[in-house]
Amino acid sequence: MKGHIDMAQRSHEYYNFIAEMYDDMYKDEYWQSVMAQIEAEILKYVPDMVGKSVLDLGAGTGQWSLWAAQRGAKVTLVEPAKRMLEIAREKLLDFQDVCKFINCKAEKFTKKVQDKFDVIFLLGDVLSYVEDIGKTLENVSKIAKKGTFAFGTVDNFGFYMKEAVVYGSRQEVRNLQKTGRLLIGSEYGAFMSRGISDEELIEFATHYGWRVVDITALGIFKSLHLNEKYGKYFTKEAEHLLYVWQKE
Ligand SMILES: C[S@@+](CC[C@H](N)C(=O)[O-])C[C@H]1O[C@@H](n2cnc3c(N)ncnc32)[C@H](O)[C@@H]1O
Repeated sequence: MKGHIDMAQRSHEYYNFIAEMYDDMYKDEYWQSVMAQIEAEILKYVPDMVGKSVLDLGAGTGQWSLWAAQRGAKVTLVEPAKRMLEIAREKLLDFQDVCKFINCKAEKFTKKVQDKFDVIFLLGDVLSYVEDIGKTLENVSKIAKKGTFAFGTVDNFGFYMKEAVVYGSRQEVRNLQKTGRLLIGSEYGAFMSRGISDEELIEFATHYGWRVVDITALGIFKSLHLNEKYGKYFTKEAEHLLYVWQKE
């Protein structure tokens, strides 16, 4: 692997650095149950992806784009980490006729994409990782039409606060209270992530003209059935929240 380890990267720089490892990191039991829950949630609201136009914002290595393309959707991938996007391009080689690849941040993509989309993915905590949530949501709202579904996950503020209180320094707790941000990452680097609560997800949706369809805890149980049934009771405790919005 090339490059150097930086302890205060921006999120897309971190992901660019770990791009070759990214898919392997998500093969464990926890992530498999998380993905099953996300898949079931998408299919609950969009049971037929055939012919749907999907915007995959912060698409990473394209795992959700591939999922959508295999079900007959046309997909636009927006991803600022070049190496992540290169891997996505290889993964989607058989679907290149129905895919567009855009190397860009969520804060700027409307300069390159003006189409309206049926479905928007903000999966993999993209809203927690962008530098400007307001600008991102403004852009997302521009390319949505009435009825468009948005599916996303975020790092949960409540979980961050508990982690910071138990394991962090006073300074980290104070900083989290003030900015909502916590340093996260791995041995390969770290970046600031914005913890977002269920209340904030409702505020964001309302402010940008979206109806909140669902907000639930992600991957609390191994069983999909239990996650679907009881997830809504764990939105303060869970590490990640899954949300579904629909454009009004
Ligand atoms: C955890 S990964 C999720 C990737 C993919 N959506 C998935 O679920 O596998 C987070 C992604 O957000 C991207 N990201 C970071 N900052 C971003 C920004 N400002 N705009 C768009 N994407 C960003 C990262 O480069 C990374 O690929």
